[in-house]
Amino acid sequence: MNKPAQVWNQRYQAQPLAVDDAWLWQWQSLLPLPSGGQALDLGSGDGHETGALLALGWQVTAVDISEQALARCQAKHPPAHALLADARDLSALPAHSFALVIAHLSLHYFDQADTLKAFTGLQRLLTPSGLLLGSVNAEDDFNYGAPKDASNWATVLVDGLPKQFFTEAKLREALGPGFEILQLNKRQSLRYGAAKSVWDFAARVQA
Ligand SMILES: C[S@@+](CC[C@H](N)C(=O)[O-])C[C@H]1O[C@@H](n2cnc3c(N)ncnc32)[C@H](O)[C@@H]1O
Repeated sequence: MNKPAQVWNQRYQAQPLAVDDAWLWQWQSLLPLPSGGQALDLGSGDGHETGALLALGWQVTAVDISEQALARCQAKHPPAHALLADARDLSALPAHSFALVIAHLSLHYFDQADTLKAFTGLQRLLTPSGLLLGSVNAEDDFNYGAPKDASNWATVLVDGLPKQFFTEAKLREALGPGFEILQLNKRQSLRYGAAKSVWDFAARVQA
């Protein structure tokens, strides 16, 4: 088992890891009508978004690198399909199979090459005009390890895990020409106690 998976398994043995901040609801006006559609919850953790998506009528595949997280997610949300996989290699999933991908705080653990690979991989999974909703650490997330200058793509080791902190320019680069950016907002989250600075984004695969 790789180091990040070990760290996340240990974290999920202690609960709760984060409060459910109902993050998905801010995107309500953008969400397509599920009509039995397929959604991917990438880095699902113990399933806050998986639960919300199921409640909305989506069929949900929950992907995480941590077995502990997936076991919890599956116990809380039995209809979800749980898949142990790394966000950088989702080749086990068929192309164009998801109308919606959620990546809530799960795409900020990689260097530049792996980040670009992960975002490109999501383009492959989404249907034409499919929607990606995500949230990543912002460059001024100082309470959670952001360096003074996050303008380069160096990762920072925080509590044994490599972390990436995004400037707006880096996030735009990650989304690349393959996604049309619909929304990009800096926000303070209180889900872990101390204020956390994040970029929330909504993007559509270029048709
Ligand atoms: C900050 S938690 C967010 C969990 C969940 N999305 C939520 O908002 O409650 C990050 C999650 O990403 C998962 N993760 C970290 N690196 C990953 C990777 N390379 N591939 C897939 N999942 C990963 C972790 O196991 C963890 O569950």
